[in-house]
Amino acid sequence: MSVSIDWKNRNLISIEPLSRTDLDTIFSLARAYKSATESGQAKFDALEGRTVINLFLEPSTRTRLAFEIACKRLSADCISISGGASSLSKGESLKDTAQNIVALGADVIIMRHASSGSAEYLAQTVDLPIINAGDGSHAHPTQALLDSFTLVERLGDLKGKKVTILGDILFSRVARSNIHCLRKLGAEVTLAGPNTLVPQDFEAMGVTVCHNLKDALEDADAIMLLRIQHERQTSTHFPSIGEYTTSFGLNERRAHWIKPDAIIMHPGPINRGVEIDSKLADSANSVILEQVKNGVFVRMALLHLCHSAHIHSKIQLPTT
Ligand code: CP
Repeated sequence: MSVSIDWKNRNLISIEPLSRTDLDTIFSLARAYKSATESGQAKFDALEGRTVINLFLEPSTRTRLAFEIACKRLSADCISISGGASSLSKGESLKDTAQNIVALGADVIIMRHASSGSAEYLAQTVDLPIINAGDGSHAHPTQALLDSFTLVERLGDLKGKKVTILGDILFSRVARSNIHCLRKLGAEVTLAGPNTLVPQDFEAMGVTVCHNLKDALEDADAIMLLRIQHERQTSTHFPSIGEYTTSFGLNERRAHWIKPDAIIMHPGPINRGVEIDSKLADSANSVILEQVKNGVFVRMALLHLCHSAHIHSKIQLPTT
């Protein structure tokens, strides 16, 4: 029996509007794409003849490439543009750039931008599906979805599972999106790091804030590390990188505090020897490259869902 999905969300700007059922739908479609791919199917026709624009106005390796690969697997034409190579660098506004992209016949826009709120602004400006690939310190919904997808694969139902997010929470869009996603899935989230980067105010999001690293690590089922977001910090939040590493870096000594089967995650890019010891990044507990791999399947699902909502078409789950 084939399963049909009727998805209504044309845009993916943040995790907040998604229901628990929506998350399960995204994961089901991503799982179906992963399973079909691993069974040998290289291409799917879901976006055949469609043009996807990857508008990346901030640097990216993983997100941009994963979207490009996802587009190609769905048979879409994918064109990537960066800020420096676009007319934004000549003073054109984002609105004008977007309207030109529409005039050129695009079907979906994926955007990364340094300003919080830019993805929502774009969604209000043009009549196309907009997928947020990271806007300032606001949201990185596709990262959170691929993180939770990976966690569910590894840990099963996340209800009651303990996830500790350690690092620069204050400036992290990944942390914000993950908190929303993990809470919707029933996980218990602890935030850890220096109090200048992990203020107590975050408890209003339904999480525990813990500045004692041992306490934050020892009962966690998963530890998600974040790098220091120098590009978004407006002042120094601790004396030096060396002092951050000494106080909060996950090293081999501190790794003895974690449960033997706890998984270690990182959205990347990782700074080896700063927030994570190099051996731990490559250890059996690490799922960092699984996260990257799953990012392609989750983004295939999201592209298919958002586009189907735009053209008012139902989706049949791919079968193996
Ligand atoms: N995780 C993440 O967003 O990585 P990139 O900056 O390389 O896309």
